[in-house]
Amino acid sequence: MQFTTRFLAILGAVLASQPVVHASSLVSRTVEKRATICNGYAELCERSYGSLAYVGTHNSYAVGVNQLSANQDHNITTQLNDGVRLLQVQAHLENGVIRLCHTSCQLFDGDTFEKYLGTVRTWLDANPNEVLSILIVNADNVPAGQYAAAYAATGLDSISYRPPNPALGYLEWPTLGELIDSNQRLVTFLSTTANQAEVPYLIDQFTNVWETAFNVVTSFDCNVNRQNGDPQNMLYLVNHYLDKLLLGQPVPFIERLNETNAASGPGSLGEQVERCSGQHGRPPNFLLVDFYEYGGGSVFQVASQINGVPYDPVTPVARPQPTSAGTQTSTPRGNNAQPFVQGSHLVALASLFVGSVIVAPFLVL
Ligand SMILES: *[C@@H]1O[C@H](CO)[C@@H](O)[C@H](O)[C@H]1NC(C)=O
Ligand SMILES: *[C@@H]1O[C@H](CO)[C@@H](O)[C@H](O)[C@H]1NC(C)=O
Repeated sequence: MQFTTRFLAILGAVLASQPVVHASSLVSRTVEKRATICNGYAELCERSYGSLAYVGTHNSYAVGVNQLSANQDHNITTQLNDGVRLLQVQAHLENGVIRLCHTSCQLFDGDTFEKYLGTVRTWLDANPNEVLSILIVNADNVPAGQYAAAYAATGLDSISYRPPNPALGYLEWPTLGELIDSNQRLVTFLSTTANQAEVPYLIDQFTNVWETAFNVVTSFDCNVNRQNGDPQNMLYLVNHYLDKLLLGQPVPFIERLNETNAASGPGSLGEQVERCSGQHGRPPNFLLVDFYEYGGGSVFQVASQINGVPYDPVTPVARPQPTSAGTQTSTPRGNNAQPFVQGSHLVALASLFVGSVIVAPFLVL
């Protein structure tokens, strides 16, 4: 019974993906261009995109150390090289331009979305056997057409997956091999304003992907927190980044990252995955984390376990950047963000209050 359903789902996905291949080239394409390695593993080529787990970086562009607004400390090229396969971004509209900011652009400005997409394009071109996903948190409800302009400017529109229906059941997704063979290797979800009749590759998130609670400060649960469809049939994402409250504001709980990102143990990613797999009868698809490299690759180990493949990287993942504990000042890394120098945490805190961001960043020493 289960086999039949799965077989039909896969068959459906195969048939649905046919229109993108011209009839005249169909035979040669299927014979000549057949990926044998997909996202690093031969075994994954035959697996549906929707049956797999991917490590994702929460606010992937918010790179820095000793900044309360940073969620990562390595740039997205390093993230991708290390195995991250979902890049989450928070997009804001500033003077008519889409920029990647955290809460507000005065607080953290990670440059334009188009520049970010250019880096993604470069990486995808250099890694033709990889399927990557982007999740856009559309904080200012920018229309889909404006995102489409940035995709077109970087050529990413041409390698983006266009689902045959606005909402796909989690087993209706094509296999990684099909996405790679048809060079539709970028899957983008947009949290609001998706209009797939107009821009077919900016996929509505909440009819396709549900999420667990975010900004968790206690313990991670597996309840459906945000969705706009039937969760049983959707992909799902766990927000596995622990915050602590500083003057009532959630900030990354850096001191707990080793345990939070671990493959097992109390509060770990492995523990949440196990709990969610039990509660929902299948593991999550997206594991969204802060400072992914804490744990020395443990987050990738968890994804590999879900996918049934070994985690055996050729080179170890990047190491955490030193934090203010051992240094006098901080250095901004790869972005335009205002650094929060050690000793001016009060300023940093003040600027976390969105109402006061206009003046606060200029007070930074
Ligand atoms: C990303 O970081 C790596 C390692 O620090 C560095 O070599 C590379 O130039 C950076 N790439 C970009 C696009 O900033
Ligand atoms: C995390 O673990 C690494 C490796 O064991 C260790 O060097 C580091 O100090 C730990 N960091 C924290 C914040 O506990």
